[in-house]
Amino acid sequence: MGVSTRTPLIAGNWKMNLDHLQAVAFVQKLHWALKDAKHEFEAVDVTVFPPYTDLRSVQTLIDADKIPFGLGAQDLSTHDSGAYTGEISGAFLKRLDVGSVIIGHSERRDYHQETDEVVAAKVQAALRHELVPVICVGETAEDLEKHGASAVPVGQLEIALEGVPAKADIVVAYEPVWAIGSGQAATPEQAQEVCAKLREVVKAKLGEDAAARTRILYGGSVKAANIASFMRQPDVDGALVGGASLIVDEFAAIVRFQKHVGV
Ligand code: PGA
Repeated sequence: MGVSTRTPLIAGNWKMNLDHLQAVAFVQKLHWALKDAKHEFEAVDVTVFPPYTDLRSVQTLIDADKIPFGLGAQDLSTHDSGAYTGEISGAFLKRLDVGSVIIGHSERRDYHQETDEVVAAKVQAALRHELVPVICVGETAEDLEKHGASAVPVGQLEIALEGVPAKADIVVAYEPVWAIGSGQAATPEQAQEVCAKLREVVKAKLGEDAAARTRILYGGSVKAANIASFMRQPDVDGALVGGASLIVDEFAAIVRFQKHVGV
């Protein structure tokens, strides 16, 4: 384990999986699994990022049953309201007690042509509504070959942090595109190297305090079997988990990484 005092964050990005009924059943089962395992909930922050149509149901459940999970959304509009068919405002998310929002996931950048400028505008939209932006950056296989691992994510983060105030609460997720959904995760050393460089960017843009406080996650084929090796790295403060966040026991084991991290 690293020496940091940052509370680890394990984030489940469900992508377009689980409808609102499945979502409720899933969150209940995950909570029970962690309770059965006597998990220490204060030790690790857990946030789930369901599809928009599930948010109200999950919010009602975690509120009623006092489930200590954060609720996040997978995207938001750059606009606050108006004639933007199909878009969702940060204001609506805030009204649902959503606390954070994924921004610039590689699937949005790739399939929806989200540029670094759009990502930066979404970061501003999130901050306007007091939502924590989970800013995703990462290189493709081609970028990796041409420029090495860190150049592209560093450049993406520099643009995303333009105009962000030093006191802003943000999360950064380093997700090499080639590692997402491929079963081939980065090595812990590579994740550490890039996450350390991303922390330097946070320091240069937002200052030392922000760099010390900001959580930087690794994402890309994280599973119960490899989470501990990432969490041992000093600049990796958690994980953004896709596929494995949809399997109750697997995700519960990731959340309980401290049991197998060897501390
Ligand atoms: P994966 O996805 O864990 O399925 O690789 C990670 C992500 O896209 O956030």
